[in-house]
Amino acid sequence: MGYAVREYVTEDEPSWLRCRVLSFLGTALFDNVLPAKPKVSGAELVAVDGEVVVGILDLAVDGELASIETIAVHPDHQHRGIGGALLSHARTRARDLGATTLDAWTRDDPPTLRWYRAMGFSESEHYVHVIADHYSSAEEPARAVVPRPGLRTVRAFLHADLADEARLRREFARVHVCRRFAMSLRGELAGGGDDVDHRAVAQDGHRQR
Ligand SMILES: CC(C)(COP(=O)(O)OP(=O)(O)OC[C@H]1O[C@@H](n2cnc3c(N)ncnc32)[C@H](O)[C@@H]1OP(=O)(O)O)[C@@H](O)C(=O)NCCC(=O)NCCS
Repeated sequence: MGYAVREYVTEDEPSWLRCRVLSFLGTALFDNVLPAKPKVSGAELVAVDGEVVVGILDLAVDGELASIETIAVHPDHQHRGIGGALLSHARTRARDLGATTLDAWTRDDPPTLRWYRAMGFSESEHYVHVIADHYSSAEEPARAVVPRPGLRTVRAFLHADLADEARLRREFARVHVCRRFAMSLRGELAGGGDDVDHRAVAQDGHRQR
């Protein structure tokens, strides 16, 4: 069956959540689960196959910067061009809302990285996500944080510099390299990454997810 891209409506929420969680299941974001759809400032796009949401793209727009908050295609519907179609709509919407740069943050799944590169994004701003988890190794939490008296750390999520990646991988079972993908929306050929505004991140490190 074919699919159509349209605006998200409230009735889509259960199907939207199911699509998101199933899409992330086989990726480094497998435990990034939402119980309710967040609102975003830019655009909320869905690809539907009949009544079923098979692809989602949430876009937040802040001045000249448009950020993909979520992009996910149901695993049974990947490699049909749905991700590309959602992106194409998002680029148009971002430009219409005055954005000149489109970006997204993601971890280190090779197929996802290939997809962003193939779509014309350029890569920058690498840093490390560390998940220190008692159930991976009882010593992990104590390697990461010192808890307040009376508290025991079971799991901690931390950011670190890329330079420390190798050491952190020796100390913790779950380490991801997070990175920014960005593309310029200026001009008709928006795929070129040459004039991407990297200052948006360099001046504002807290945008790291
Ligand atoms: C990354 C992701 C959104 C891509 O969505 P998708 O719908 O599979 O993407 P597309 O179909 O547009 O492109 C994927 C591939 O299918 C190919 N393709 C596009 N249309 C096609 C078609 N009609 N028939 C066959 N293949 C097709 C593309 O050329 C591309 O090939 P490549 O991987 O060799 O570059 C999707 O894989 C996904 O949801 N991944 C898990 C969640 C995730 O990691 N999200 C990003 C977190 S930030």
